[in-house]
Amino acid sequence: MSVLNYKQLSAPSNIAVLKYWGKKDGQHPINPSLSFTLKNSKTNLNYKFKKRDDRKIQIVEFKFDKCENVSFKEKLESKIQKIMTDSIVPFGVDLWIDTHNTFPHSAGIASSASSMAAIVKMFAEIYSIYNINQLSSLAREFSGSACRSISLGWNLWGETLLHSDANQDFALNINSRVHPDFHSLQDWVFVCSHKSKGVSSTDGHKLMDKHCYLENRLTNVHNRLKVFFKLLEVKPSIDFFNILEQEALDLHALMMTSNPSVMLIEPESLILMKKITDLRSQGLNCGYTLDAGSSVHLLFPLSELDQMNSLMHRKYFGHMGLDFVDVIYDECISC
Ligand code: PMV
Repeated sequence: MSVLNYKQLSAPSNIAVLKYWGKKDGQHPINPSLSFTLKNSKTNLNYKFKKRDDRKIQIVEFKFDKCENVSFKEKLESKIQKIMTDSIVPFGVDLWIDTHNTFPHSAGIASSASSMAAIVKMFAEIYSIYNINQLSSLAREFSGSACRSISLGWNLWGETLLHSDANQDFALNINSRVHPDFHSLQDWVFVCSHKSKGVSSTDGHKLMDKHCYLENRLTNVHNRLKVFFKLLEVKPSIDFFNILEQEALDLHALMMTSNPSVMLIEPESLILMKKITDLRSQGLNCGYTLDAGSSVHLLFPLSELDQMNSLMHRKYFGHMGLDFVDVIYDECISC
């Protein structure tokens, strides 16, 4: 009997500076979004497969952190059935999958982006799919933001008049348009709560369908993208961090003013957000962003690392276990 060997791969998570929030026409965004991939926060995936005589993709075993996860396996199988159609799949396979995230659950780091990008990379290897755009498009179908985790670095997803190649189907890598200092941008994630988010991103996106501020949101996001494009061409600046924070606040304001209202920011998040803005007003080049959760991402250029380490040492951000639950030290990875 042939012995199957496990193959290994990994895919990074990403953090958006301009947020994808709201869907239309299935898995397409209502607005363009912009993100960078993270170096340390990733999904490691081991898999083995055996060809089948039919065209079916069957997950024999799905393990997360060495434990079988039947509910995730079932969800994944139903997505696979919808997305991996006969035109992409020349032969069926039995699959054994074993995954691990390098970052804790509910840390405020998108695990769907890294895990779904990892699943797509696995299919890329099995079915020899080399086209990056096609892979990004497949990842989008598994989970929107995952399309920005196929190419390393800065990725733009969604139509905009500002870039003729930008489109709804796959993310476009824009590393060459971004100043080198943005390729080493630091991201320290302060985890403020281990409580689950309270709203899935699928339900969150739906809140935008009839949102009273929808039109304003669309106008803001397109104007903001224009400014981001300009600011990303030069060294990270105070203006960049100002607009970064405006965008994060917009996302949460939209959630809070939706019906039903969603409040994800915790008191600990607010304290950290104010501390970070204060640092900027004192001349430190930094700012925060938040995803759909309570964790606060502190972003700053590598040139501020010594200052930040010293602030951390002096407990400027507070005490771990008291003022925040955990810190994940991460940074952009572009190659
Ligand atoms: O990919 P989803 O459906 O999990 O949506 C992610 C949405 C945000 O993380 C809040 C924003 C973004 O652009 O990543």
